[in-house]
Amino acid sequence: MAFDSDYIWLEGEFVPFRDAKLHFLTSSLHYGTGIFEGIRSYETPDGPSVFRLKDHLKRLLNSAQILGLGEIPYTFEELYDATIKLVELNNMVECYIRPLIYIKEGGWNLSTIKIKIDAGIAVWKWTNYLGDEALAKGIRANISSFPRHHPNIMMTKGKTAGNYVNSVLAKSESMRGGFDEAIMLDPNGYVSECTGENIFVVRDGVIYTPPRNSVLEGITRDTVITIAKDKNYEVVEEIISRDQLYISDEVFVTGTAAEVIALSEIDHRKIGSGATGLVCADLQKSYSDVIHGKNKKYSDWLDYVNNTSHSEVRLTEAKAV
Ligand SMILES: Cc1ncc(COP(=O)(O)O)c(C=O)c1O
Repeated sequence: MAFDSDYIWLEGEFVPFRDAKLHFLTSSLHYGTGIFEGIRSYETPDGPSVFRLKDHLKRLLNSAQILGLGEIPYTFEELYDATIKLVELNNMVECYIRPLIYIKEGGWNLSTIKIKIDAGIAVWKWTNYLGDEALAKGIRANISSFPRHHPNIMMTKGKTAGNYVNSVLAKSESMRGGFDEAIMLDPNGYVSECTGENIFVVRDGVIYTPPRNSVLEGITRDTVITIAKDKNYEVVEEIISRDQLYISDEVFVTGTAAEVIALSEIDHRKIGSGATGLVCADLQKSYSDVIHGKNKKYSDWLDYVNNTSHSEVRLTEAKAV
C-alpha cells in the first residue's frame, strides 16, 4: 500500500508530505495514547464524497473523551474543513483518510494530566484491504487465541492506538496460520468482533450481530443495519456463540476498510455455500450504491469534496451535531 500524497494536515497547517514529522519523544508513540479514525472518500456522480464524515469525527471526539484527553485544540468544524480541503488539495478521489490526535507534550508520567494535545490528518490512495477476490469469494477466518479486550480494561468504544495491539496480535497469529482474518471472542467467550470489523450472522433469513456492549460501534455496522432494515430484513442484536457461527447460513464482516465481506470458512469449516451468500451479496450491492452516491435516500451520509456550497451546508449542519 502506498501512503504518499502531496500534503498532510499537521498541527493546523497543510504541510508537504515529507515535512510531516513528529519528535521521537512524543509520548503517544511510546504509550499508545493516540486516538484515530479510519474514513473513506468515494467517487460519486457529483464528484468525490467522504462517507459519513460527521459520524467519524463525532466518534473521534468521543474517543478523546473516553481517554480523558481534555480539550482538543481544534473544533469539530475545523477538523471537518481540514479533512475536506486535504482530499481536495491532494486531488484524491477514492482514498483513505486517517486523522490522529496525540499527546504532543507531557504524558510521560502515564497520565493525561497537564498534557498538550495536537492532531494531524493524512490521506492516501485506496486499494482493497482484504484483496480483490474477497468480494465474491469471501475470506477465511479462525477464532483467535487472543480474546477481545474487556471494556473496563481498554475501553472498546474508543479507537485508541494502544487498543490495536490486541488486533495486531490476533491478526498476525491468524495470518501466520494461513487465514485472512481473526474472529475474537469477548472475555465471556462469546463472539465479539474481528480485528478491524464487526461481525454478522445470517440464519433462516434473519440477520444477527453481537450487541454493542463490548464492540466498537462500527459506522459500517450501523450503515448495514439501517440499509438491511430498510430492505425489510429482520436484524437482531444478541449474544452469539462460537458454534452458532459454524451452523450459520452466512457470516459476514463490516468495516470502513473491508466494507462488506463474507467469511467463507471459519476454523476449517465451510460456511453456507463456501462463498459470498445471497444476503451478503444483496447488502454488498446496496452498500456500494450508497457510498457511491447512487441511492439518494442516503445522501445525508455523503460529504462532497469539490462542491463548496455543499461543504458550507454540511458545516452548518455539523455545528448542530
Ligand atoms: C475493532 C474494530 N471493530 C470494528 C470496526 C469497524 O468500524 P467502522 O465500520 O466504523 O470502520 C473497526 C474499524 O474501525 C475496528 O477497528
